[in-house]
Amino acid sequence: MEKPIRIGALISGSGSNLDAVVSACEAGRINGRVVFAGADNPGAPGLEKARKKGIPTFVVNYSDIIRTFKSDPGRLSLPADFDAEEIARKQAVANHQTGERLRVFLGTRAIAEAALIEQMAPYPFDLLILAGFMRNLTPYFIDRVNTDPGRPKIMNIHPALLPAFPGTDGYGDTFRYGCKVGGCTVHFIDYGEDSGPVIGQRCFPIGEDDTIDSVRQKGLEQEWSLYPECIRYFAEGRIHVVRQTHTLKNGRIYRRSVVKIARDIH
Ligand code: GAR
Repeated sequence: MEKPIRIGALISGSGSNLDAVVSACEAGRINGRVVFAGADNPGAPGLEKARKKGIPTFVVNYSDIIRTFKSDPGRLSLPADFDAEEIARKQAVANHQTGERLRVFLGTRAIAEAALIEQMAPYPFDLLILAGFMRNLTPYFIDRVNTDPGRPKIMNIHPALLPAFPGTDGYGDTFRYGCKVGGCTVHFIDYGEDSGPVIGQRCFPIGEDDTIDSVRQKGLEQEWSLYPECIRYFAEGRIHVVRQTHTLKNGRIYRRSVVKIARDIH
C-alpha cells in the first residue's frame, strides 16, 4: 500500500468537485486526504464547505490584485524571481496579448501566483487539483509546483471533451454548437489552455429535450465520479506520462506527451 497522498485544491465556485474528492477520501476510495483549499475570490461557496470539513482554507483575491495593479501599481511589487521575458516565451495562453495588455496579464498573475505559492507553503502536497479554478496558471506557478521533470502534479477537470471547447464555458460551448454528445476531461496542466495530457474522460448523450442547464447537470454528475477515479490512479502510482512520436502519411512528425494508466497498482 502506497503512503496516503496529500491533495491541495484550488477552487473558484461551489466546490462540488472538491466535495466529491473529499467524500472519496473519507470513504477510502482514494488513499489520500485534502490538506488545503484555496480560492481566487472570498465569495467562493466551496470555501465554507471545506471549512466545515476541517480543511484549512485561504484566499488570494485576484480581482483586488488586478484592480490595484491597474490603478496604483506602486502598491504592489513583482516577485523578485519573476522573469517576464522567460514567462512570456513559455506562456501559450497569453500569446495573443501584446504590449501593455501582456505586461498587465503577466504582472498581475505573477503577483497572484507568488501569493498562492506563499499560502500553500505551510501545507506540503503531492498533488494539486484545480476543482473549478477559473484562472489560467502561468509557467511562473507551474514550474514552481512541477519540480520533477516528467512527473506533472497539477490536475484539472474541464467541462468538455478536450481538445474540443477549451476555455471558460465548456458545457455552454458544447450545447450551443449543437453537439449530440457532451463530456468532461481530467488532464494535467501544461503551459497551454486546457491542452495538457488527458488522464480520463466521460461522455453523455445530448438529446432534443436537453437545455444548457440539463447538460451542465449531466456533466457535473460525470465529473463527480471521474475526478476521484483519476486521483485514485495517481494515489496508486499508476499514472505515467510518456512522450510519443508518430510519423504521419505526409511525413510530418507528430509528438505529444500522453498519459498511460498502468493496470497494476505499484
Ligand atoms: C465544473 O463544471 C468544472 O468542470 C468547471 O467548473 C465547474 C466547477 O464546479 N471548470 C472549468 O470550467 C475550468 N476551466 P464546482 O465548483 O461545483 O466543482
